[in-house]
Amino acid sequence: MSTVLSVDNLSAGYGRALAVRDVSFEVKEGEVVALLGRNGAGKTSTLLTLSGILKARGGTVSVGGRVVAPGRPYAATKAGIAHVPEERALFSGLTVRENLIIAGARGKSELAEVYELFPELERLIDRRAGLLSGGEQQMLALARALRQRPKVLMVDEMSLGLAPLICARLVSILRGLADTTGIAVVLVEQHLELALEAADRGYVLRHGSVVMSGTRDDLLLRRAELESSYLGGAAEQRSA
Ligand SMILES: Nc1ncnc2c1ncn2[C@@H]1O[C@H](COP(=O)(O)OP(=O)(O)O)[C@@H](O)[C@H]1O
Ligand SMILES: [Mg+2]
Repeated sequence: MSTVLSVDNLSAGYGRALAVRDVSFEVKEGEVVALLGRNGAGKTSTLLTLSGILKARGGTVSVGGRVVAPGRPYAATKAGIAHVPEERALFSGLTVRENLIIAGARGKSELAEVYELFPELERLIDRRAGLLSGGEQQMLALARALRQRPKVLMVDEMSLGLAPLICARLVSILRGLADTTGIAVVLVEQHLELALEAADRGYVLRHGSVVMSGTRDDLLLRRAELESSYLGGAAEQRSA
C-alpha cells in the first residue's frame, strides 16, 4: 500500500510554547490510524498544523509524496486533507440540506451518496442542524468533510459526548470507507477501546511528542502500560 499522508518531524505551538514536538507518522492508503493521548497531549494541535491553521515551526507534511505548503488552510484542502474539528463546524441555524449545499452537495445524486452512508440524514434533511442530536450532527459533519473528496480525513474526538452505540457505528462507517475507497483516516481519540476497534495502527502522544506507536495488536497487548502511563491517570489529567 502506498503512503498517503506523511508527517515528518513536525513542530508547532502557541507563542513560545511548543504543543507539537518533532512528530512523525504516516498513514497508508485505506488505513485508519489513531492518534491517542490524554487531554493536552497535542492531538488537536497536530491536526490544526496538518490543516494549515497552526503554522508549523519545522518539519513537513506530505500528501501523495508532495509537500503541502505550511500555514495555509487552502493548500491543505487542495492537497486533499479534510478536517472534522472537535466542535464539528456546522451552521447550526441552517438546515441539513443547506449545510450540505454549502459543502458542495447540490444535486440529487450527491445527496443520494450522503444518504447511502448516513441513512438517518434523509428524514432530517429539512431540520436545522442545531436541532439534531450529537450523533446526527457528527454524521452531518462527516458528510460535509467527505464532499471535498479528500485523500485524508482527520476527525477530532468524534466520540465526545456521544452514546457508545452511535460511536461504534460511526467508527465502523469510517473503517468501511477506508476499506472501500482507500481514503486515509486519522482518528484522534481519548478512548483507547473505541479507537482501536477500527484502527490498523496507532501513535500515542504525550507532551507533544510521539512516545509509543504500533499496530492495533501491539497496542492492545501493551494496554495496561498505555493506560497507566499515557492515557488514564485521573490525577494527572486533572492537573493538566
Ligand atoms: N489556543 C491555544 N493557546 C495556547 N496554548 C494552547 C492553545 N490550544 C492548546 N494549547 C496548549 O497546547 C497543548 C496541546 O493541546 P491540544 O493540542 O489541544 O491537546 P489535545 O488535543 O491532545 O487535548 C496543551 O498544553 C494546551 O494547553
Ligand atoms: Mg483535543
